[in-house]
Amino acid sequence: MFNLNYTSIKLFQDFFSISPYTSSSANGRVNLIGDHTDYNYGLVMPSPLSLKLDISILPTDNGKIRGISNHFGSKERLLNEELDKSWLDFIKGGLEVFYKQYYDFDGIFKKGINVAVNSSIPPGAGISSSAAISVAILKAISYAERKEIGNNEIAVLAQKIEHDFIGTKCGLMDQMVATNGIYNNAMFYNLKTNKIKNIKLFKNHNFLVIHSGIKRKLSEGNYNKRLNDCTEASRKMGVLRLSDAKLSMTSKLKGKLKKRALHVLSENLRVKGCFNFLKNNNSNAFGKMMFDSHESLSKNYEVSSPELDNLILFSKEIGAEGARLTGAGFGGCIVVLVDKKYSEEFLIRLKRKFKDIWLVDKI
Ligand code: GLA
Repeated sequence: MFNLNYTSIKLFQDFFSISPYTSSSANGRVNLIGDHTDYNYGLVMPSPLSLKLDISILPTDNGKIRGISNHFGSKERLLNEELDKSWLDFIKGGLEVFYKQYYDFDGIFKKGINVAVNSSIPPGAGISSSAAISVAILKAISYAERKEIGNNEIAVLAQKIEHDFIGTKCGLMDQMVATNGIYNNAMFYNLKTNKIKNIKLFKNHNFLVIHSGIKRKLSEGNYNKRLNDCTEASRKMGVLRLSDAKLSMTSKLKGKLKKRALHVLSENLRVKGCFNFLKNNNSNAFGKMMFDSHESLSKNYEVSSPELDNLILFSKEIGAEGARLTGAGFGGCIVVLVDKKYSEEFLIRLKRKFKDIWLVDKI
């Protein structure tokens, strides 16, 4: 269990009976609007959470990766062993990706590494625990090797860990907000131009990040299937990337491909709209876009679930200004926009109806 007074340094010392060499951390994120648009080179608008993951590491000479995590317990394996779908894959991935990029040798961890991870980000909740561990391990290795790497570069390497070692062909949103996001700001990010604009959140409203009580798993393949649908839709419309298409071009598509394209293209427009609504302090219009986004993710992108749909519907009934699933979907968290004065009562009413939900964070 996560203990606020604990750190990965303390966890490391308690488990390995020695102090680590260096430490690093990365925050989780909530995506306010713009889901499944990043790998289509569209628009997204995430924001960092206060929840974070910190990591401590020490080089060893026993040929092993040995790890302790507050979520997953202890585990070890040989440095050169195959991937095993455990959290140590992120560590192996971090080492390989880093050294392949910057050195032609294995660096100070060539003989082994001890790692401790302490995280307040619940895994499998759609709030980017995997980008956090990828970014944090890369930063820790780069500190240990005294190699300065820019934020964008770290983000791209972290994405490579997901692609090549975890098997999720994700976009770049999570890694970019973990490295470039500013707390209490939304990060409006255009993946086509690679430009970011950070913008302050609403003064009188909260975004509540609420866990539905249902866990989600990306590597099960649903995520990559959606990516394949988008590639196929782009090919049929004669564009390189789905976000290059116009809404009118979807007339060339049928069935699920048409639905996928409609979601992505309309979602890009909603993100653009929300950026302006945030600038003009128009929470009402922002919230409406969130409901529309959920509807589109549910009906056209088909990444929602009856439980998530019910949560959104009920949130609307009891006075949320906006609500939608956040992240990849298939369970995990929702994000709700409410007036600050109402947020506590809102949560009480939601919890009365849905016993398994819990507040993950509030920004
Ligand atoms: C996951 C991926 C992101 C993004 C979201 C959906 O979080 O890691 O790249 O595609 O799903 O918006």
